[in-house]
Formats: sequence, structure tokens, C-alpha cells
Amino acid sequence: MVDSLKKPALDQARPGVKVPAKDTILTPRFYTTDFEAMAKMDLSPNEEELQAILDEFRADYNRHHFVRTPEFNQQATEDMDPQTRKVFVEFLEQSCTSEFSGFLLYKELSRKLKDRNPMLAECFGLMSRDEARHAGFLNKSMSDFGLQLDLGFLTANKKYTFFKPEYIFYATYLSEKIGYWRYIAIYRHLEQNPENRIYPIFKFFENWCQDENRHGDFFDALMKAVPSTVNGLKARLWCRFFLLAVFGTMYIRDVQRKEFYEALGLDAREYDKYVIEKTNDTAGRVFPVMINVNHPKFYERLEKCVQNNFRIEAVNNSGRSPPSSSCKNCRSICLTASSSRRCS
Ligand SMILES: [Fe+2]
Ligand SMILES: [Fe+2]
Repeated sequence: MVDSLKKPALDQARPGVKVPAKDTILTPRFYTTDFEAMAKMDLSPNEEELQAILDEFRADYNRHHFVRTPEFNQQATEDMDPQTRKVFVEFLEQSCTSEFSGFLLYKELSRKLKDRNPMLAECFGLMSRDEARHAGFLNKSMSDFGLQLDLGFLTANKKYTFFKPEYIFYATYLSEKIGYWRYIAIYRHLEQNPENRIYPIFKFFENWCQDENRHGDFFDALMKAVPSTVNGLKARLWCRFFLLAVFGTMYIRDVQRKEFYEALGLDAREYDKYVIEKTNDTAGRVFPVMINVNHPKFYERLEKCVQNNFRIEAVNNSGRSPPSSSCKNCRSICLTASSSRRCS
């Protein structure tokens, strides 16, 4: 997709434009897929539902929603303390990159499927319209903090991860539904606690999350149209993998930036537990498997991942080579592990 674009070097981001955050396993990715395989899919088993969703996309309920109000102004951001400001900008950047990632994938799918599957192409085209609005709104908010992301630069420079169509279905379905629950949970919390609404963007989350919910419903209908994606052992294992990967990534990332949630009067762990429970329940309507999030080991193991992630961060920041395997003693990625792979 990006081969035809002239790539500026990574250190050539324009002055005044935020240098993109360093890619890690936790930062949002850009995706590409097998467009030919997607074009060949027979969607007739669930065409009626897909057509109904397309009609909803065409109705464009949020056509007039993403309009900035006079409440947005630089003064509000200048009053923030430096630490809150830092985590807030990180939140905006990560959200903008995720939304823009959706835009790029859906836009490319719409372009490639245009002649082969017009209905699917139109659905992807209208979803890319929504994601472009979301990314643009977030990027405009970043400009209130005196920063902006150069999305053209990101398009040309970020790595693209290839996922087969069914993996795109699982990953984007979950990202849309978890996005819905994340936005609505923050919106409802701030509705009850307006003194914690430190920036006006949160007022827009109620209608915004309905876009994500519809996008998720589209992938739900798509998976039902291709029953092999949700039937059989292979589907069960992949769905389980994606559920764990999405929940784990969110939990580790949110605990890492818990100050952002604290600024909103939320506890990152409690917020994530709520979002995970809701997303798991929602996904259970189409995925053949759910995660037992009430298992006593579930959060214990996620906490282990959190600790390992802090250790990886510490290694990265120290400039040392990371240990190649976990310590035999404490079973973590242990900074004190030597060549014997044991900490003292
Ligand atoms: Fe979005
Ligand atoms: Fe979306």
C-alpha cells in the first residue's frame, strides 16, 4: 500500500509537528491484508444483515457531531499540571494513531474491493469516513496542546502488519467493541463526575462510541456470513488468542499510564476490569469462546505481564540488552538474571 509513496527519513518529521512515539509491542499498529481473498468471500449467508448495516452507515447519524465548540481553547490545556498534560497528550496521540490505523485499512479495503464487491467496498468506505473524522478530531485536540501528528508522515513511515482476512475480522471486531466500551465508560463516569472532565473532548464520546459500536456490528455480521471464521477448533483457538492479546495489551498499557485515568478520577485497573468484562460478554455473542475473566489466575497473570513490561521498559531505558529468556528463579524477565539465567 505504501510502496508508491515517497518515504521521508524517520528523522525528517517537520518542525513543530510531534515526533511519533517509538513503536513497541503496545503501540497501535497499521494493518494490511489479502485483498484478493477478501474480494472472493461469499457473503450471501448473511447478506440481509450486512445490507441493513450499510443502510445505517449511509444514514450517517454523526454527520454534524464532530464540530468543535468554543469550550476548546488553549487556555484550558495550559492550566493542566505538567504530568497530566504529558499523559493527556500521550492518550490523544495513541487514540489518534488507532483511529487513523482504522481509516487507512478501511480506505484501502474500500478501494481494492470497489469493482469486485461493491456492497463490502461501500461499507468499508463509510467506516473509513467515520475513522477519518475521529482521527481528525483527536489531532485537532492535540493542536490545543501546541502539537500535531503528521498523519502523512506516519502513513509513509510506520510498519504495516499483515493479517489474513479472518485475523483482521477478529482484531478489528474486538478493537471496535473494546473502543465502544472504553469511550462509553469514560463518558458515563464523567457524566456523574463533571468536575473531572478536564477537557471538552469527553463530551463527544457518547455519540462517537456509537460509530464504533456500528463498526463492530459490521464485523459481527461479516463473521456470521463466513461461518468458518467462528466455527471449529481453529476458530476457537484464534478467538481465544485475540481476546487475550487485546485484553492483555490494553491492561498493560493502561496501568502504565494510570496517571491519565487518575486525572479523570478513575482507577486504571478498575476501569479496565469493567471494559474487559463488558467486551468479553459482547464478543461472546459471535465468538465461539469467551475468557473466564473471573478465574483467580486471570488478573494475577496480567499483573505479572505488567511487572514484566516495567522491567522491559527499564532495560530499554538503561540501554542494556534485554535478557533473552525469563529467569529460572523468579520466572519473570529479571534484570538481575545473569548468564546463568537466575537472579540472586
Ligand atoms: Fe473510531
Ligand atoms: Fe471504528
